[in-house]
Amino acid sequence: MTRKLFVTTALPYANAAFHIGHMMEYIQADIWVRFQRMQNDMDENGSGQPRVVHFVGADDTHGTPIMIAAEKEGVTPQEFVAKIAAGRAQYLDGFHIAFDNWYSTDSPENVDLSQGIYRRLRDAGLIYTKTVDRFYDTAKGMFLADRNIKGECPVCHAKDQYGDNCEVCGAAYQPTELINPYSVFTGSTPILKPSEQYFFKLSDPRCFQFLKEWLNTPGRLQPEMVNKVSEWLGENGEKLADWDISRDAPYFGIPIPDAPGKFFYVWLDAPVGYLASLKNYFEKKGLDYEAFLKDPSAEQVHFIGKDIVSFHLLFWPAMLNFSGHPIIDKLKVNVHGHLTVNNEKMSKSRGTGISPLRYLDLNMNPEWLRYYLAFKLNSKVEDLDFTGEDFVARVNSDLIGKYVNIASRCAGFIAKKFDGKLAATLSDNAKEWMARALNGEVNGTPGERQASIAANFEAREFGKALREIMEIADVANRYVDENKPWILAKDDTRIAELHDVCTTALILFRQLTILLSPVLPHVAARVQAFLGDAGFTWADTTGAAVYETMLGRTIGAYSHLMQRVDAKMVEDLFDKPAVAAPAAAPAAAATAAPAEAGEAPAAGVATPASAAPAAADAIEELAPEISIDDFTKIDLRVAKIVNCEHVDGSNKLLRLTLDVGEGRYRNVFSGIKSAYQPEQLIGKLTVMVANLAPRKMKFGVSEGMVLCASAKDEKANPGLYVLEPVSGAQPGMRIR
Ligand code: 2FM
Ligand code: ZN
Repeated sequence: MTRKLFVTTALPYANAAFHIGHMMEYIQADIWVRFQRMQNDMDENGSGQPRVVHFVGADDTHGTPIMIAAEKEGVTPQEFVAKIAAGRAQYLDGFHIAFDNWYSTDSPENVDLSQGIYRRLRDAGLIYTKTVDRFYDTAKGMFLADRNIKGECPVCHAKDQYGDNCEVCGAAYQPTELINPYSVFTGSTPILKPSEQYFFKLSDPRCFQFLKEWLNTPGRLQPEMVNKVSEWLGENGEKLADWDISRDAPYFGIPIPDAPGKFFYVWLDAPVGYLASLKNYFEKKGLDYEAFLKDPSAEQVHFIGKDIVSFHLLFWPAMLNFSGHPIIDKLKVNVHGHLTVNNEKMSKSRGTGISPLRYLDLNMNPEWLRYYLAFKLNSKVEDLDFTGEDFVARVNSDLIGKYVNIASRCAGFIAKKFDGKLAATLSDNAKEWMARALNGEVNGTPGERQASIAANFEAREFGKALREIMEIADVANRYVDENKPWILAKDDTRIAELHDVCTTALILFRQLTILLSPVLPHVAARVQAFLGDAGFTWADTTGAAVYETMLGRTIGAYSHLMQRVDAKMVEDLFDKPAVAAPAAAPAAAATAAPAEAGEAPAAGVATPASAAPAAADAIEELAPEISIDDFTKIDLRVAKIVNCEHVDGSNKLLRLTLDVGEGRYRNVFSGIKSAYQPEQLIGKLTVMVANLAPRKMKFGVSEGMVLCASAKDEKANPGLYVLEPVSGAQPGMRIR
């Protein structure tokens, strides 16, 4: 039976632009959706059709804060939310989030659906009214929401605290407990005025019975959520309190039927907005909305953050159930933790905020962020942390060093030496390596690993899925390292071997691309064009689709798929911390101050720090003079460090993979481990001696030497500095 999925992310308030936390949730959901779209639901005869997925979002538009923000700008709430809505596409398109529909809770569909659900709840005897005292601003002629009232905290006596909780001591209280309350609109003292309010009777035993069963249905919710919500229910539902669902006019919201001057509280109509967006989408597509919601194979899946769990795990399921939505049996709510930056809550003043638009403005690749976040995501309700260095290291090592590297090392040979045609058969050695890569090192069964990766995507264990995929990439790289196509390419007698190796490497690269395509959709599309594939499905990861289909195929020209992350970009990504008051001038600045008149250096040139004599023994005596001919014998080249890693068993060496513009990479060992972490060097340019005879070392052959500066006596003056040309130099340029 084909699974039919209705997937949403939480609907964002339409009072601000997206922040990076929104993007994380959307990326998580988008990866899951793209994975689902690649699945074929097979019948017993092995044929099937793609899963049907409807992925929708909308702006959450109602409520007092938006109403007030619009008033401040002198526009109507509708105009205000329209402006916010117009800004959404640049984020969604920018990060490749492929919603089928983006809509609004301020829509005719949402009015109809919210009012319809309310009527059914009322008919089921779950709505009642009660008169309660509410603060009222007589000058403005309106009831005041909790955040429209301020006063002195009843606990710590801090002034100017909101009506619901104190930002100084954190206490939560009722607005009526504030000392000296005042209206934020007029400053006047509000009066308490009785008002009839509408309540949803969550304390009804039917709600408890339903919620208990719903929560405990296996596979529906994360275990930590089941525990949390069970606590909110109490043993026998005694902890369930009724929910005030009404607000008095003036309020930007949906009118409550048969209740003049009363509106639904924003959290009543917000989740109904999921259905409104789906309905709107179905209408545009000519699909049957009513039939979909009754279809036993339809599933409803929400992705939300941990801060809005009570609305989604108590009120919303109860609303759906008691208003006659059978899809409640297939409702799943996936809760994620929050995104922190350097293990702290994001904060602009501390310089840790990351703006998604700035990310795009800096020309940072959105698929870097998709990969990085996916690597950190799991199925638990855990916070996840963005760290600049970790981001650079993860992306450069996995995506560039492991994945893209396979194609960039082999594709050129297929174009140059074989007119773009892949080999028609593969050697036994190639098939063995392929099995080792795809099925696992130790006698893995074909298809098992792909099934495990699929299970991890399905379970939202994206980090685990990506680790498994990178294990395949590791074996594929080892295959290329050991078979050295760049050496084979120099020997005409080994042309068939070259063909075999490059074809196999590209087959593995294609498999990696298919497995990564939920995370890297744009790269996948480019690889399809390059390899001549019409599209990728999960079925392409098993059976004949793995390589038979590639044999003898003519492929297109390869163009570089992805740049590495430049650490400087990541620095620029963070909001700059608020500038602190200037402290005493730092010592370095003092030494660079202009000299007295008459001695001033040329304009703009500060005295170099090195003008001060270095400790006499730090500088080595000059070597004996050489002729220019001696110098030109040494071929110095600009090299790009495309990868750098520790060498198992060596406490001195790092292994560098260098691009010297030769269409192949060089392997160079360098004794700089004491001075650098590999990720500090990846992506940097340096200078190497390119015509040094290759040297066989314990760990492999070193094909050159990287230039470093150091003091005469390294023990007395430790410090090793890898040379780096001024930016603009290209790999392969000669140094003269
Ligand atoms: O917390 C929020 O941002 C809410 N606007 C989420 C609403 S989710 C759904 F119920 F609409
Ligand atoms: Zn307080």
